[in-house]
Amino acid sequence: MKSAGAIHFLLNGVPQAVEGVAPTTTVLCYLREHLGLMGTKEGCAEGDCGACTVAVAELDAEDGLRLRPVNACIQLLPSLDRKALFTVEGLRKGDRLHPVQKAMLRSHASQCGFCTPGFVMSLFVLMKTSADPDRQQICDALAGNLCRCTGYRPIIEAAARMYEFADAPASPDDWLTRTGLDAAGSGSWLKQALRDLRQSTSLEIVHEGTHYVAPRTIAELAALVARHPTAKLVAGATDAGLLVTKALLSLPFVISVTEVAELQRVEVTGDWVVIGAAVSVADAFSALMRDYPHLDEMRRRFSGPGIRAAATLVGNIVNASPVGDWAPILIALGAVALLRHGDDERELSLEQFFTGFRRTALRSGEFVQAIRLPRPRAPFLFRCYKVAKHFDQDIAAVSCGLYVEIDADRITTSRIAYGGVDAIPRRAPQCESALKGRVWSEDTLEAACAALQSDFDPISDLRGSRDYRLMVTVNLLRRFYVDSTTSTRAMTVWTYGEHGP
Ligand code: FES
Ligand code: FES
Repeated sequence: MKSAGAIHFLLNGVPQAVEGVAPTTTVLCYLREHLGLMGTKEGCAEGDCGACTVAVAELDAEDGLRLRPVNACIQLLPSLDRKALFTVEGLRKGDRLHPVQKAMLRSHASQCGFCTPGFVMSLFVLMKTSADPDRQQICDALAGNLCRCTGYRPIIEAAARMYEFADAPASPDDWLTRTGLDAAGSGSWLKQALRDLRQSTSLEIVHEGTHYVAPRTIAELAALVARHPTAKLVAGATDAGLLVTKALLSLPFVISVTEVAELQRVEVTGDWVVIGAAVSVADAFSALMRDYPHLDEMRRRFSGPGIRAAATLVGNIVNASPVGDWAPILIALGAVALLRHGDDERELSLEQFFTGFRRTALRSGEFVQAIRLPRPRAPFLFRCYKVAKHFDQDIAAVSCGLYVEIDADRITTSRIAYGGVDAIPRRAPQCESALKGRVWSEDTLEAACAALQSDFDPISDLRGSRDYRLMVTVNLLRRFYVDSTTSTRAMTVWTYGEHGP
């Protein structure tokens, strides 16, 4: 049995060097089964309930500190290398509760307590990253956490009250209890500790037939993937983690793209936005919302904060799910996938990238290094919608990206793309023909809706019948028209903590 390579990270401020552990061990498994830290809970083991929420801090490219919530149940242990992990055990100092814990206690926000550590850690991240969140921001921060017995009202109240219990810091350790990462001196000890963990070499772990490599350069990554075409490529591992926890598969060779500097960037030029394969979903939304602010609702509905912080836009595309949230949006915005094999690069429009149910045009040894989107030049209308049974973190029955360019009152270009109504996310050619050259009017809308019914022949499954999906597909185009031609929203979306009709 051969074992080599060590993972270096801070656990509640204490340096760790982990050796002799399979690199496909999840962070949750390591905490509970190797260290006996039972505060972090396992509910679903697939990133959906938030019981396993922990906080991870790291240095960004500008040497700033970033703190994010992470679902420990599907995060692979090597992803912690050179980062700082905080668990619920690290918040309480002796008999002194953390302000979040005090607020949860005083607001009667816990009954059985199973979900509570996860809520506490999500609120810890909120408290450190936002000094005065409004109710919507609180609800968004908690959207990845489920509670089945207390109810959310007292938890939201605790979130609003936690700032009352924050003390002035007396020692560097009190960084944990202070509000805001950027206050003077805040986190300085943590930054220095993270700098001390920096290494110039790639992380490589070999353990009992399992191999994990996190290359640092794009050339190193390309050579590795070409040499090991069957290796599992991961970024946030929010999908691959399920292969471990749900499919109980062993992954013999894992290559992580997260440490490749070239892939961590969002590049914005006058004409393009280029999003690297290691850029998180959260950061991708932030970058694209400058040009397309209507992405905001989809941002809030794309899983929970812990998944958005770890998952990547490119991962969501390569997964090739017919109901992936990003695909119809990116097709509608005219995105191109930038592919690489060794030193060779090629480009494919995203429509060409999907070739069949969960199949892509990627060749053996090839990978997606970035997604490139054109920036808007002509006057345009754009919306994206997702219809699912729940507002937060649900799988779509139907989703879409709808884009039209208008010049001199006439539609010159349209990209009408849907997910969930075919084996692959794709455009609606007959609908687009019905729009071309026409005025954006009710007559045009009716013609486009009629044509759209010939574009798709959806299947029936547990998320929706064929007829339901077809009706939703057409109605979303109608909603696009109403939303883009009226200043007020035509429909209300009921959100977390509100009561629907
Ligand atoms: Fe449910 Fe991790 S255990 S999200
Ligand atoms: Fe029991 Fe939340 S307190 S599940």
